[in-house]
Amino acid sequence: MTKKIAVLPGDGIGPEVTAEAGKVLECLRREFGLDVETEQAPVGGTAYDAHRHPLPDVTLKLAREADAVLLGAVGGPRWDALPMAVRPEKGLLGLRAGLGLFANLRPAILYPQLASASSLRPEVVAGLDILIVRELTGDIYFGEPRGTRTLEKGERQAYNTMVYSEHEIARVARVAFDAARRRGRKVCSVDKANVLEATVLWREVVTHVAREYPDVELSHMYVDNAAMQLVRAPKQFDVIVTGNMFGDILSDEASMLTGSIGMLPSASLDARNKGMYEPIHGSAPDIAGKGVANPLATILSAAMMLRYTLGAAPLADRVERAVSTVLDQGLRTADIHTEGTKRVGTREMGDAVVAA
Ligand code: NAI
Ligand code: MG
Repeated sequence: MTKKIAVLPGDGIGPEVTAEAGKVLECLRREFGLDVETEQAPVGGTAYDAHRHPLPDVTLKLAREADAVLLGAVGGPRWDALPMAVRPEKGLLGLRAGLGLFANLRPAILYPQLASASSLRPEVVAGLDILIVRELTGDIYFGEPRGTRTLEKGERQAYNTMVYSEHEIARVARVAFDAARRRGRKVCSVDKANVLEATVLWREVVTHVAREYPDVELSHMYVDNAAMQLVRAPKQFDVIVTGNMFGDILSDEASMLTGSIGMLPSASLDARNKGMYEPIHGSAPDIAGKGVANPLATILSAAMMLRYTLGAAPLADRVERAVSTVLDQGLRTADIHTEGTKRVGTREMGDAVVAA
């Protein structure tokens, strides 16, 4: 049966990079019999402009009906002054919550061709292949109560709440342990259990779930140490599992080990592996509209979609090999450009992947 992909380009460089991933999917449809149809809908600031809401009903409905969602990015300075409830980023949080996407898989793989684009010494990152599993629908990003209040003397105070329940921790831990079984059989759970109660429970529950996986080695690390270890000796990790906020920060940090945030894809999965796929970067307002954004993170996100949701692992392999081929050819967008390689724009990079 034809699978349906909801394409939500979003804001800034979002439309530029999803267009290139769209070309790749179209190529797979045309040349390799991938049975998919795509339909677009607005999200983020662009959706706010058209519908006065960052996640219009039509968009959520399309995303719910689709087998998979491919998203670009949302946000930008134009919408920064909007009230929190209708800011573009709310569109994304609404999709994650509305689709029940509680597990965010973020592989950080160093392509050998980009070893010199990493900010770390080649021997520290050579062969790097780690997977960060970030919890996505809980934690301080969703916790109540939240808001601002005015104290007696007129001073304002603002607050958010870090909250996790046992089932939220257990289900994302299982995703991490399952993933570790397919890789290096090591899970490092990252928390701040020395000061935050929410993460004391986190550590307890992850430890409990680990008993179901005697073949996987579990370790624990405080988030501040994990941030340090990621740049000191990143290859010590196989799978990292952590909460929403720590995972947000650590996965951006990990992206730099691989050369550029423009290289890193992500999958956000629900309990049945239906998912939303997006690059981990944002809308990059500083380069939007210039045709220089790196589309590879989005193309690699489409590859994850082929693998996890569309049951087309061989095509996913094919896309990943094509990305490696264009890197072998020396083609580089500005963010990964180094001496002796050829600088190309967003479209040229997409075309090269299609050709490969
Ligand atoms: P960002 O990820 O958009 O940009 C950070 C830096 O990386 C910028 O210098 C940008 O030019 C560069 N960059 C990002 N993606 C790139 C690509 N594909 N190719 C080349 N360079 C790339 O993060 P920033 O600047 O903090 O946020 C900008 C906007 O994006 C904000 O409104 C923020 O809320 C939103 N955002 C949205 C996300 C999403 O939609 N998933 C995630 C992160 C931020
Ligand atoms: Mg982030």
